[in-house]
Amino acid sequence: MATLLLLPGDGIGPEVCAEVRRVAAALTPDLEIQEAPYGGASYDAHGTPLLDEVRDQAIASDAVLMGAVGGPQWASAPRHLRPEAGLLNLRKAMDVFANLRPAYCFEALAGASSLKPELVSGLDIMFVRELVGGVYFGQPRGVEDLPDGQKRGFDTQVYTTSEIERVGRVAFEMARGRRNKVHSAEKSNVMESGLLWKQVITELHAREYPDVELEHILADNCAMQLVRAPKQFDVIVTDNLFGDILSDAAAMLTGSLGMLPSAAIGDPGKPGLYEPIHGSAPDIAGKGLANPLAAILSFEMALRWSLKQPEAADALLAAVKAALDNGARTRDLGGALTTREMGDAVLAEL
Ligand code: IPM
Ligand code: MG
Repeated sequence: MATLLLLPGDGIGPEVCAEVRRVAAALTPDLEIQEAPYGGASYDAHGTPLLDEVRDQAIASDAVLMGAVGGPQWASAPRHLRPEAGLLNLRKAMDVFANLRPAYCFEALAGASSLKPELVSGLDIMFVRELVGGVYFGQPRGVEDLPDGQKRGFDTQVYTTSEIERVGRVAFEMARGRRNKVHSAEKSNVMESGLLWKQVITELHAREYPDVELEHILADNCAMQLVRAPKQFDVIVTDNLFGDILSDAAAMLTGSLGMLPSAAIGDPGKPGLYEPIHGSAPDIAGKGLANPLAAILSFEMALRWSLKQPEAADALLAAVKAALDNGARTRDLGGALTTREMGDAVLAEL
């Protein structure tokens, strides 16, 4: 039997994960769901955001779905014990190097975007963000004292050939199943690692994926194009830091952060890490106001990419679309449904 490890975490995480549990019980009753402490909740109970045994349990499961981590109450914890450190350590331990972040506009929500509906109607972008390398993990890093009394803070942006190739492959493969176009975003005009990124992607493309259309784009221009004419994009592959920033901008084009899931995958056969891209939203936590659709759609991605149940994934996606078409809206979408009522609306369609 396949196992899914749920890591509800902090803020609205537990509420939205509860709806995933109900959907899973109805849709995939054979799936074994385990749950473990994570993030700030784990720090409060166990003094660390990620226990070694939870990390090992994650690696041993078939898929991991997390709710959200972080909140103002942990801002003064030592950096290596903050909820965010637990997230970065889990990504690294699971070696989930390719972060798939769809920016997909549900037709029923085209009017909710900050851009004109005609610019976003039909929008369907897939970000492939490198997730376990780059400046997030590069050494050396630190803050040092200078002789003149100043401090000097530094981080290292670093990529190797194989790190670029493996995430590039995911992007090209993804494009073949979509509209066959990849944009590779970097700053090769300024950064040495960006120049290497561009060269490696160019060679990989020529060697293994000549049938896919490839365009190189500078990351700043990519940001501009995303808000000018976002429908020109199909798959965008980029590094960890640019991917963090560009995918947030793209997410907002779709109307609501409460709608978007993500998947982080590694080598075939290894478990993926799935998470809604919204944060822990401490201002609305515990009030039943959160939109559970991003978490439910993260489960949909887990069914597709890790649990190998594409029919169940299709059924779930169709149920979410139908619920939206029938007017189901939580507060972030301009409606009044509670978290649980939105879960009910999806269950009714299933
Ligand atoms: C994200 C988040 C994380 C990141 C933070 C919480 C460490 O912003 O998943 O995009 O920067 O990767
Ligand atoms: Mg981010």
